[in-house]
Amino acid sequence: MYGLPEERNRSQPAEPEDTALRDSFEATIAADERIEPRDWMPDEYRTTLVRQIAQHAHSEIIGMQPEGNWITRAPSLQRKAILMAKVQDEAGHGMYLYSAAETLGVSRDQLVELLLAGKQKYSSIFNYPTLSWADMGAIGWLVDGAAIMNQIPLTRCSYGPYARAMVRVCKEESFHQRQGFEILHTLSHGTGAQHEMAQDAVNRWWWPSLMMFGPPDDESPHTAQSMAWKIKRFTNDELRQRFVDICVPQAAVLELTLPDPDLRLDEPTGNYRYGEIDWEEFKRVLKGDGPCNRQRLEHRTRAHEEGRWVREAAAAYAAKRARAEERLAA
Ligand SMILES: [Fe+2]
Ligand SMILES: [Fe+2]
Repeated sequence: MYGLPEERNRSQPAEPEDTALRDSFEATIAADERIEPRDWMPDEYRTTLVRQIAQHAHSEIIGMQPEGNWITRAPSLQRKAILMAKVQDEAGHGMYLYSAAETLGVSRDQLVELLLAGKQKYSSIFNYPTLSWADMGAIGWLVDGAAIMNQIPLTRCSYGPYARAMVRVCKEESFHQRQGFEILHTLSHGTGAQHEMAQDAVNRWWWPSLMMFGPPDDESPHTAQSMAWKIKRFTNDELRQRFVDICVPQAAVLELTLPDPDLRLDEPTGNYRYGEIDWEEFKRVLKGDGPCNRQRLEHRTRAHEEGRWVREAAAAYAAKRARAEERLAA
């Protein structure tokens, strides 16, 4: 039904009114107004957004796995209920985002196919394993915390449907971040073994969470254009710095340490300087060689296949209802 934007537009001849349309697009961006689905937009803007929103949607859905893995082992009924609600929220985020991507002329089915074929990416953070209950705390505090840092500026993104989806997503992410902090706080102030478990989780999740902001600015191929289009409002390194600055005092409240001997306050700027990030590890995991890449995609593929009958039944029911409504209206 739909072609991906690149395919669909490749065959179209350049229209004479393109310059006027481009001017109006540029003026909308310059005025800090929103581009809406029916507005003309350059092919590259559309393609960039499809890539980014799809990757974001896939991350929400794949991101359900590391934590879903602990629902049956949560230490109390209350913890189980909270974790279930959180994982369910992530499914909801995926749905908002696939819907936002659909306004750009791709279907959710196409995007899911591309994910399962390994042709579109999701955030590398979800290729790390969750080894203990404390990982639920570290993921909430650091991974959802980094996600919020990335996503709050997206509520001001130039593309309307993406920006609006982010408003609700961010509210839920802030609940996720606080529940993670609370898990770690409880463990850290519990028995010696619990404190050690919390510290071990933070040691494993700290560096991957810094990698969530993407490569350094001078190696980030899309940053300049995305900033010019106001899709992105801050660079990767700016957001990473903000995240570090927020986490250091929070770690002190948790009475946990961050695993970086080079971490220190730079008095003149008020920023915390941090050690070298292992970008080789980042590239390795991104290329598919992380601890859980294969497992995550296999699980998603199996869940997709096992859910096929549900999707078919829902579609058949919707069609039957539509026919009945048509008959009533006739
Ligand atoms: Fe989310
Ligand atoms: Fe979240």
